[in-house]
Amino acid sequence: MTSPTLYRATFLHTPVSPFTYEDALRAEEDGGLLVQGGVITARGPYSDLRAAHPDVPVTDLRGGLLLPGFVDTHVHYPQVRVIGGLGLPLLDWLDQCALPEEARMADAAYARGVARDFIRGLLGAGTTTALVFGSHFAGAVHEFFEEAQTAGLRAVTGLVVSDRLLREELHTTPERAYAEGKALIQRWHGQGRALYAVTPRFSLSASEGILEACAALMRDFPGLRFTSHINENTREIQVVRELFPGARDYLETYEQAGLIGRHSVLAHNVHPSDRELGVMADARCTAAHCPCSNAALGSGFFPLRRHLHAGVHVALGSDVGGGTGFSLLKEGLQAHFLQNLMGERGVPLRPAHLLYLATQAGAHALDLPHVGAFEPGQQFDAVHLSPHAGTPLDAVFRHASSAERALAAAFATGTPADVARVWIAGDAVHTRA
Ligand code: GUN
Ligand code: ZN
Repeated sequence: MTSPTLYRATFLHTPVSPFTYEDALRAEEDGGLLVQGGVITARGPYSDLRAAHPDVPVTDLRGGLLLPGFVDTHVHYPQVRVIGGLGLPLLDWLDQCALPEEARMADAAYARGVARDFIRGLLGAGTTTALVFGSHFAGAVHEFFEEAQTAGLRAVTGLVVSDRLLREELHTTPERAYAEGKALIQRWHGQGRALYAVTPRFSLSASEGILEACAALMRDFPGLRFTSHINENTREIQVVRELFPGARDYLETYEQAGLIGRHSVLAHNVHPSDRELGVMADARCTAAHCPCSNAALGSGFFPLRRHLHAGVHVALGSDVGGGTGFSLLKEGLQAHFLQNLMGERGVPLRPAHLLYLATQAGAHALDLPHVGAFEPGQQFDAVHLSPHAGTPLDAVFRHASSAERALAAAFATGTPADVARVWIAGDAVHTRA
C-alpha cells in the first residue's frame, strides 16, 4: 500500500443531484481529503484531519478550487483535429469535415497520433473519465485503448459501426462488426480502467443487421456500455423515419434491437417525442447533452425541462469535434446560457447543477459509483483549478464571498489554462507546463 497524502484545499462536490436535493452542493472552505492507494479514506475540515493524521505529508492546494474530475459522456476521438468546422448543419458537417478525417484513421500510426492529441486535450481540460466515440477501424480503436492505458485515463469506448450512407471505406458488415467487436472486448473490456462501449454511429448509417450485431455483443458480453446518437437534427430525423418505416420514432430503431437499458447513453436528443422520453426514463438510460455542439451545428435548443419532467437522466458531453473544445466548464456555461434563453421552457441552472452535470451525472450515466464526487471510499479523481496571478478568475477567487461564488466564476470564465493539475486514482496525470 502506498503511503497516504493529505490534500488541503477549498473543495466542492455534488454527491447527489441538485435537480432532486436542494442541498446537493457540498463545499469545504479549508478542507482536507486523505488519500491512500488512490482512494479517499477520510474527508473533513483540514484542521480535524491534520490533528488525526499529524505525520502524513500535506499537498497544499489553497488559493484555487479542487473539484472531482470531469466526466465527459460524449466525445469523438477521431475528430480532435477537425474542431472548428463552424457554419454547417449536421449532415453537411459530417460529409465535409468529420468523415474525411475519420477515413484517415485506417492508418494505425496516424490514429495513434490522433489518440495522443485527443487524450492530452481531455486531461488538460480536467476530464478524468470519458465515454469516447471511437473509430470505424478496429486498429485505431486498439491504438486508443493503448494510449488511454498509458495516460491513465478512464476510458469507455469501442468500434464505431455503420453499413450505409457514410463513405464506402467506413462501412462494415454485421458479421465483421460482431467479430471485430468481440476481439476488442476480449482484449480490453475490464482491463485496468478500460471498458467497452458498443457503438453504432446512428440509425441513419446502421441497418437493422448492424443493430442486431450490436445487440448480440451486448447479450454475449455482460457489463458493456452502449452509446449512439439520437434526435439531433431535423433532417437526420426525417431520413431515419424513411429508413425505418416500421418504427414509431428514432428511439424505437434502437429499442427494437434491444439496445436501450441502464447502460445506454444517447447523445443530443434535441427533438424527442414524449413517448421517447417516457421509454428512456423507464429504461433508466441517459441523454448526453452537448450544448456547444448543438449551437455550433444549429441543431436546436435541448429541452432539459422535458427530460427532467419525464425523469430522464441527463449528463454533459463536449461532442468534440462538432463541439468546440474539451472543457466541461464551457459546456456547463453554454448549457446555462441556452436554458436562460429558452425563457419559460428553460431550466435555471445554478453552479450546483453545472458541477453535477459535469461530474456525478456522468459517473451515474456510466454506472461508475467509485468516481464523480469526493465521498470516502471513492477514487481520488480530481481537478485543481488555479488561475494564473493577474487573471480575472484569480481576482474572483481571491475575493469571492463563498466557495459557491468561486465555482460560478470557474464556469463563467474558466478554461483549460486554469487547470493546474489533474489526478486519476491519486496519480497525477496532468500538470500544467
Ligand atoms: N451523428 C452521427 N455522427 C455524428 C458525429 O460525428 N457528430 C455528431 N454531432 N452527430 C453525429
Ligand atoms: Zn457525437
